[in-house]
Amino acid sequence: MKKILVATVKPFHPDAVEGIREICSKAGYDFNLLEKYNDKSELLEAVADAHALIVRSDKVTSEVIEAGKNLEIIVRGGAGYDNVDLKTASDKGIVVMNTPGQNSNAVAELALGMMVFFARNQFNGKAGTELRGKTLGVHAFGNVGQLVAEIAHGFNMDIYAYDPFEKDEVIRKKGVTPVKSAEELYEKCQYVSLHIPANGDTRESINYALLSRMPANATLVNTARKEVIDEEGLKKVMSKREDFNYISDIAPDCKDEMAEKYPGRFFFTPKKMGAQTSEANINAGLAAISQIKNYFENGDKTYQVN
Ligand code: 3PG
Repeated sequence: MKKILVATVKPFHPDAVEGIREICSKAGYDFNLLEKYNDKSELLEAVADAHALIVRSDKVTSEVIEAGKNLEIIVRGGAGYDNVDLKTASDKGIVVMNTPGQNSNAVAELALGMMVFFARNQFNGKAGTELRGKTLGVHAFGNVGQLVAEIAHGFNMDIYAYDPFEKDEVIRKKGVTPVKSAEELYEKCQYVSLHIPANGDTRESINYALLSRMPANATLVNTARKEVIDEEGLKKVMSKREDFNYISDIAPDCKDEMAEKYPGRFFFTPKKMGAQTSEANINAGLAAISQIKNYFENGDKTYQVN
C-alpha cells in the first residue's frame, strides 16, 4: 500500500486535508498527516516510510530526501519549488512536481489588497490615495502576474508588464503594455508587483539600481520571495527616498530595522499568507494528490520540475 504524507508547518485548510484524505482512501493509499511541526526531526521520522510527500513551503532538504527511503514523488502544493532540493531528488530518481496556477488567485488578491490597505494608510483614518490612474508594473507575467493585471484593470490602473519568457502579444491580449526591460518597468511604474521565482538568476536581483528608477511615490509589493530582494539596496533606497514604500508578504531579514526606521512606509504580514485561503488550499491540495495518483497509476509526469 502506498503511503502518502502531507507535511505542512503551515497547515492546509481542513477541507483541503479532508479532500486529500478522501482521495487517498478511495485510491487505497495510506494517508498520513504531519501539521505544525516544530522540529525537522518530526519530518525526518514521518517521511521514513512515505512513498509520496506533499508539502507547502516546508524545506525538503537533502537530509529529508535521504530519510525518505521509499520516496517516489514529492509535490509542492503551490507554485514556487525553491524549498525542494531538486538535485538530490533527481539523483535518487524521485519526481518533483508543483501545482502551478492553483493558488494564484489568492496571491493576486492579496497583492491588490495590500496595495489598497497601504494606499489608505493602513486604514488609520488619515486621508490616503487611490489606485485609479496609477501606473502598475507587473514583474513577471505568469499565473499570478496575469491575475494581478486582471484585478488591477478593475481599479483602472495603467498596467505594464516585463517578462522575458512571455510573448508581447500574450501580454497585450490582456490589455497590458509590455516593456523591454526591468529597468523600463521600474522607471514607468509607481507600483511594482513582484512575481518572479527565486532562483540563481533572480536572487537579490531587485537592487538599488533598479528600485531607485521608480518615479515619485513609489511602492514595491512583494508577494513572491524575500530572496529576490537585495536588502542592502532596499534599505538604501528607503533611507534616500522618503517617498519610497515597501509592502511584503514575506518578512525581510532586516524587518526590525525597517520597522523601526520607516514606520508608515513599510508593512509585512506576520506570516506568509498569499496562498492562505480555503479555495487556494483546496485547489493546490487536491491537485497535489491527483497528480500523485496520476503518477502512480499512469506514470503521468505533466507537472514535473526536476
Ligand atoms: C507558492 O509558491 O505557491 C506560494 O508562495 C505559497 O506558499 P505557501 O503554500 O507556503 O503559502
